[in-house]
Amino acid sequence: MNTSPESNIEILQELIPKIPMRQGKMPVVGMGTFGSDHVSNEQMAEAVLGAAEVGYRHFDCAEVYGNEAEIGASLEQVMANGVAREDLWINSKVWNNNHSAKDVIDACKRSLEDLRIDYIDLYFVHWPFRNFHPPFCDVNARNPDSHPYVHRELMETWEALEFLHGEGLIKNLGTSNMTLPKLELLIKDASIKPDANEMELHPHFQQPELLEYCIRQEIQPIGYCPLGSPGRPERDRTPDDTTDIEDPVIVQIATAHNVHPAIICIKWAHQIGIAPIPMSTNPRNYYANLKAVTEDPLTDEEMKSISAIDKNCRLIKGQVFLWEGANSWEDLWDLDGTITK
Ligand SMILES: NC(=O)c1ccc[n+]([C@@H]2O[C@H](COP(=O)([O-])OP(=O)(O)OC[C@H]3O[C@@H](n4cnc5c(N)ncnc54)[C@H](OP(=O)(O)O)[C@@H]3O)[C@@H](O)[C@H]2O)c1
Repeated sequence: MNTSPESNIEILQELIPKIPMRQGKMPVVGMGTFGSDHVSNEQMAEAVLGAAEVGYRHFDCAEVYGNEAEIGASLEQVMANGVAREDLWINSKVWNNNHSAKDVIDACKRSLEDLRIDYIDLYFVHWPFRNFHPPFCDVNARNPDSHPYVHRELMETWEALEFLHGEGLIKNLGTSNMTLPKLELLIKDASIKPDANEMELHPHFQQPELLEYCIRQEIQPIGYCPLGSPGRPERDRTPDDTTDIEDPVIVQIATAHNVHPAIICIKWAHQIGIAPIPMSTNPRNYYANLKAVTEDPLTDEEMKSISAIDKNCRLIKGQVFLWEGANSWEDLWDLDGTITK
């Protein structure tokens, strides 16, 4: 029997479920690549290389993460090491200051060049509204000309994605950070329906209605911050500041399975139909995260007890508070009455 590291990776590859998409098959676990301000671009690029070595093939990138050039060098190395391009699944996203048709196309081409690839497997509109703020500015740096969601503006951005798809530069189209009504409107007017929706999803923020809607519409949900983003310094805090991986229910199930609570969050996400994209720069952690979906599943009882710990606690709210008077995502609908304009 061949027990070389290469054969172990091949076995793991076989075991990782792949989701059929419009074009290609997406490995169900992806590696997040947003380093926030505590992981340098070099550390993230090294993690991508290491993750590919242990069997990751799906990487979640974005221009605004500021590290696509470094990650591109790693991806080039991965392919030089023998992984075929068609076995990789690479996401990228257009940022909010590039929503006009021309800017979307330019942004996509920049990402392609930085990532050193000639197509993107899944390209997202990162947020469904335009703004011209620097990516991580505080409220004092708001641009008074920015405005909340306007449906016809999002459609212009979406049509540019449809164009990129026609050109073969992106294989699948994605939305991110949508509410259910925004997604409904987009589907009504789009020529090409979204293939995936990337949404914040973890046991303390389960978004059951949006999730159920995506599954019904055959839009693959991709779960970001699947562990509740425990290491991100700027994440919004829960009232009691308990992260998902500290939740007593998750800890108890983890103890029963003899794994870290992070692994329980990943199994749970997978079992409710989400493709989770945990970020890690620790080789032991990212290997365990990938393997989680190949090992013994959670029982129905365990799944039920995790459903019961939803706190409706959204961690990533930054973009919302860039508009004066907006206190929630839903407020963005009403600020200037532009839902369907
Ligand atoms: N579309 C969007 O708007 C959007 C927004 C936010 C995030 N995202 C995407 O989602 C990805 C994931 O989100 P995130 O990075 O904020 O949060 P996350 O994946 O929930 O948490 C990452 C943190 O968990 C730790 N961790 C990972 N695996 C672990 C394990 N097995 N045991 C213990 N700790 C573990 C990591 O530390 P170590 O490095 O020490 O393992 C890191 O600090 C991002 O990188 C990005 O690609 C997208």
